[in-house]
Amino acid sequence: MKLYCAEDYDAMSRKAANFISAQVIMKPDCVLGLATGSTPIGTYKQLIEKFNNGDLDFSQVKTANLDEYKGLTKDNDQSYYYFMHTNLFKHINIKEENTNIPNGMEPDAEKECKGYDKVIEELGGVDLQLLGLGHNGHIGFNEPDDSFAKGTHIVDLQESTIEANKRFFASADDVPRQAYTMGIKTIMMARKVLLIVSGADKAEILHKVICGPVTPQVPASILQMHNDVTVIADKAALSKFTQQELEQL
Ligand code: F6R
Repeated sequence: MKLYCAEDYDAMSRKAANFISAQVIMKPDCVLGLATGSTPIGTYKQLIEKFNNGDLDFSQVKTANLDEYKGLTKDNDQSYYYFMHTNLFKHINIKEENTNIPNGMEPDAEKECKGYDKVIEELGGVDLQLLGLGHNGHIGFNEPDDSFAKGTHIVDLQESTIEANKRFFASADDVPRQAYTMGIKTIMMARKVLLIVSGADKAEILHKVICGPVTPQVPASILQMHNDVTVIADKAALSKFTQQELEQL
């Protein structure tokens, strides 16, 4: 695991955008696994800036998003489809047909999950998976559980996740209770993983993820077993690490 400490959210976003840019430059037809949430917004802004400066070309890039709320239409401004188009896709030269997000409106969960795994398989797998970190250690919507989930599946969101995400909705009651998400196995099969973490409120969980035991109760802890993980976190998110722990990473 490689760990980069950034001064603050902006510096974290710049480093993450540089990392993703390197991937796109090295392999112009790469498959990027993308995340939503507040953490990657700055990274996406930086990528848009690089595209506007003529430094990046997304014309051959393909993407697969981690997750989508079940029951939200594409034009619902809280859907992850809407998020990705507003915060990234509509500002760059990516082709709509090269972007993939689970279909939250598919009522048949088995069909959607199998279909999404097939999409990722047909893309040839994910080259670089970008991840944010939930306060309970979730990645994608893989919530703490008794075992690690495998492929794409439907999940019941935990109260803590509903609570954390209600800031984007009119009220907690409006937060969907279920979501489709890539499984841990799918995430672990990505050739490279980039985890970005910002803020003191993530400090405790980030420390558990990196220094604690590997357990499905802290889903992101499985990343300790991946052979190519880069963590870019800001100082506040790294505030629970001792100097010695930081040096060992
Ligand atoms: C979103 C996702 C989630 C978020 C996590 C952190 O696609 O996969 O796992 O990355 O909930 O969210 P923020 O960045 O809003 O703190």
